Amino acid sequence: MRPGSTIVSTYSSACLVLALLAVNTSAYFIIDEPALNRQWPNNAVNLVTWSKGVLDGVNGFDVEMAQMGQDGLRLVARNVPSKPNSLNIMLQDIPAGDDYFLIFINSTHGVMHSTSSRFSILAASASPSSPPPAANPSVPTVTISGTPNPTQPFATTFPAILDNAGRPTVQLYKESPILIAMSMCFIGWLFGALWTLGW
Ligand SMILES: *[C@@H]1O[C@H](CO)[C@@H](O)[C@H](O)[C@H]1NC(C)=O
Repeated sequence: MRPGSTIVSTYSSACLVLALLAVNTSAYFIIDEPALNRQWPNNAVNLVTWSKGVLDGVNGFDVEMAQMGQDGLRLVARNVPSKPNSLNIMLQDIPAGDDYFLIFINSTHGVMHSTSSRFSILAASASPSSPPPAANPSVPTVTISGTPNPTQPFATTFPAILDNAGRPTVQLYKESPILIAMSMCFIGWLFGALWTLGW
């Protein structure tokens, strides 16, 4: 391999790593509740809360729940507005397990915003060793029940998410950093390649 092409390929991989880092750090989105090892009582209303970047352009998302050791997602709620930053989930006879987690995603195009820490759902008769935060009476409550069924639609669908001007949202802001970073990488790579070819 000519020395020039080694430089070019090193440059390309470094550039890609930086581009991915830039994209990840620009998207700050954390599910605060359920916190790690939180124990949600069954047949009760439990609180979900999150914190996220103010200017990330994500005005809403879809909530799904999964279990590590099991196939299949449970579709909890579609079009959850990002503000206010909480939602109640009423559990009805959900199978007990200590390996649940929540996924916040835009299921239209599959962009994942955040995943929660691993938490437990207790058997109906059990009570948590430390009480989870109380449900928030001023935000909506969505109900999920029984065993997961992958063909079931979202248990709750909220109205379509609108932007501040009342139009359906487009998430250009969120997609643009990687496009910009990739174009920069490509331009850099092109110059490197021309240089290698002795132009
Ligand atoms: C998902 O993305 C689409 C297209 O960007 C947008 O119209 C929709 O509102 C988003 N969904 C939510 C729940 O925000």
